[in-house]
Amino acid sequence: MTPPPEWVPSSPGASPPPSPDEPAIRTTRLTKRYGRTVALAGLDLEVARGRAFGFLGPNGAGKTTAVKLLLGLAYPTSGDGSVLGAPLGDLDARRRIGYLPELFRYQPWLTAREVLELHCRLARLARPAWAGAIGSALETVGLAGRADDRVGGFSKGMQQRLGLGVALLGPPDLVVLDEPTSALDPIGRQDVRRIIHELCERGVTVFLNSHLLTEVERVCDRVAIVDHGRVVATGSLPELLASHTVRLRVTGLSPDAVASLGRFGPIAAPGDGMLSIDGMAQERIPDLVAEVVRLGGRVHAVEPQRQTLEDRFMELLGGEGE
Ligand SMILES: Nc1ncnc2c1ncn2[C@@H]1O[C@H](COP(=O)(O)OP(=O)(O)OP(=O)(O)O)[C@@H](O)[C@H]1O
Ligand SMILES: [Mg+2]
Repeated sequence: MTPPPEWVPSSPGASPPPSPDEPAIRTTRLTKRYGRTVALAGLDLEVARGRAFGFLGPNGAGKTTAVKLLLGLAYPTSGDGSVLGAPLGDLDARRRIGYLPELFRYQPWLTAREVLELHCRLARLARPAWAGAIGSALETVGLAGRADDRVGGFSKGMQQRLGLGVALLGPPDLVVLDEPTSALDPIGRQDVRRIIHELCERGVTVFLNSHLLTEVERVCDRVAIVDHGRVVATGSLPELLASHTVRLRVTGLSPDAVASLGRFGPIAAPGDGMLSIDGMAQERIPDLVAEVVRLGGRVHAVEPQRQTLEDRFMELLGGEGE
């Protein structure tokens, strides 16, 4: 593909701009072993640009390991990958990535502004751009009023907000967040959701590690569920969370008529006019309602029961406790 005319290589030998169709992240059989522990076992992943991708799994599943490999902070034992069109660990690509690590501590004697200045320097941002980038990061994460306070006096949640602010400097094309909301109160979590939505609207890709399933469910278009270093399920949320059960409240049906609805799927009638039909595709709901009416019934409510990500997670990792 021909580079757009405004593109100028940032340094000799810099990689050309990737095609917009090229995924932001691609891995092929990416594997990491630590001694006898297989932290990541043959990860095949594709994350589209401008989307929020959720990487989910229980403690020790391999989420942070995957992030470290993507960022070039650890080397794979085998397998391969590319991030923003460049090989894993490529320095030019890394400058376009914002990263919120899982466990981090900033120097307690620095103020929030000084932490951000340090990271502007590390990211080699042009000096005149610092003030704007820092002001906007502080504003976005809700720390504008604490810019000149020392980090040592920050609460956990404020430190996590600052970490997120650091990840937004650049501005990045890819933001990798390793458990970004673990220390945040509900307002902080809502802020993170808003920030992720805004990033995606601007075409930024977000890779989100989490075990907070409801958070992921609210912001991510696609997810992969990983366990013991292996992906056990991947897809869009509607693909993963197929709705199987439909609940109805109907009156006026004879027991025979209720039994005849069994052709839509295994049916239960727990009482009070409630009917519950399992294994039924949502597209068949209009047919089901028409059939109830044809049989002389009246329909008061129709409730497709969408599986939650937590249900699906527990189903896939079934009965493993942790
Ligand atoms: N530097 C290391 N040395 C040895 N083993 C490691 C190292 N890093 C990770 N592991 C092991 O690899 C496995 C995956 O760890 P990882 O940190 O990737 O899990 P995680 O999914 O991020 O878990 P959590 O939800 O607790 O953050 C674990 O068994 C862990 O003990
Ligand atoms: Mg982790």
